[in-house]
Parts: sequence; C-alpha cells; structure tokens
Amino acid sequence: MTMELLYEGKAKKVFKTNNPEEYMIEYKDDATAFNGVKKSEIAGKGVLNNKISSVIFELLEKNGVETHYIKQVSEREMLVKKVEIVALEVIIRNTIAGSLSKRLGIEEGLKLEKPLLELCYKNDDLGDPFITEDHVEILDLVDTEGLDKIKSMALKVNEVLKGYFLDKGINLVDFKLEFGYSKDGIVLADEISPDTCRLWDVNTGEKLDKDRFRRDMGGLIEAYENVVGRL
Ligand code: TMP
Repeated sequence: MTMELLYEGKAKKVFKTNNPEEYMIEYKDDATAFNGVKKSEIAGKGVLNNKISSVIFELLEKNGVETHYIKQVSEREMLVKKVEIVALEVIIRNTIAGSLSKRLGIEEGLKLEKPLLELCYKNDDLGDPFITEDHVEILDLVDTEGLDKIKSMALKVNEVLKGYFLDKGINLVDFKLEFGYSKDGIVLADEISPDTCRLWDVNTGEKLDKDRFRRDMGGLIEAYENVVGRL
C-alpha cells in the first residue's frame, strides 16, 4: 500500500492511510538537537524508538491514559488515531537537568520535591519558547478545560512512568509530551522515547537518552538498546 505523506518532522513521518480516522507514523533514524541545528543519521534509532514508544503507550493505555496509539505494525511503523496536534510541548521534571539547570543556575541532579510542569509553545520558527498559561490563553492553543485535562494527564503519565522505570533501575529525570484532538477528545500523542525523555541509570547515573547525542558523548544506540533490554 502506498500512503500519502501528510507531514515530515525531524524524527518521524506521518502518512494518511485508507482509513480516514487513522494515520501511520514512521520513525526515522535522524537525530536532531538545538531546533535542528545539529543533525545526524543514527542507524537503528527509529526502530528502537518505535519499539520503546509502543511499549510505553501500551502501558499507559493499561493504566487509563488515553493515547493516539493503536498498534505497532512493523519495525518502524506505528498505527495511530488521527489527531490534530495541540501546539504545546508539556515538560515534566522530577530531577533538575538540561535547560532548567541552565535557567535557574542549579547543578544537574538535584531531585525536585514534587514534579515540575512547564509549557512551551510548539513553534520551530520561534525555537519552542517557554510560555505560561496566560500565553496559552492569548494564543488560544487550547481552552482552560482542555489545558486542565492536559496537565492532569501529564502528571498521571509521570506517576505511571516514574514507577515503571524505577522498577527497571532507571531514574525518569524529565520528559516532553504532546497532545492532540482526536474525534473522542484530547489524547496523548507524538512519541515517548529516549529522544523525548531523560533516563539515568539509578546506580551509575549513566545517561540512557538523547543527551548522548546532544552532548557528543557517543554510544546512543547502545544506550537505547540498554533501555529496550529492560522494558
Ligand atoms: P530541556 O531540559 O532541554 O528543556 O528538555 C526537557 C525534556 O524535554 C528532556 O527530556 C528532553 C525533552 N525535549 C524534547 O523532547 N524535545 C525538545 O525539543 C527539547 C528541547 C527537549
């Protein structure tokens, strides 16, 4: 079946399918950082992220979080519900790292007493700027009820994933979520993978995520395989 390409992002392609209510996502091997300024192709990354995302979406569905996920159909392809993406990136942090560490001038690794939720405007031309709920209202990205739902879903995802990863010896430091409007309301969309999460080994602190690429540490595929091996 040849599918019509609907959209190509930095790490994925989205195709239309014969079913108007379903899209096919293809996970690419491209890795980017700093809003696409740094780019590389890392053979095998797409396959690993599709696998990891599929396992996580299945886990979240089992725990009552509604997602766009339908099923994994091949090594690189995931069938999902058609959604219109909300132009918001929702970041949840359990431990200080990355841009928060820079913004607050606090060393990476400090555990937060409660999860911290941040909002960014999903807009590549602007570099996904940090925004507040008032900006969400001014930009009319989602209504108040929708934003409340998104926030509570994001915190629920954190509770489920934090415990799940801890069981596997992994500290879920932070992650980014995206949501979409489906015909049944707002659902969790996009992907959840080491591209979109910070995952640190509980015992060694070893980074098992895309910071290995962002920070030129090498060993990205080995790290993602390490995660897959623990799922
Ligand atoms: P940050 O510390 O760079 O703001 O990143 C916070 C989390 O969000 C981290 O787990 C990586 C993830 N993230 C994305 O998924 N996409 C992005 O474009 C950025 C900047 C971060």
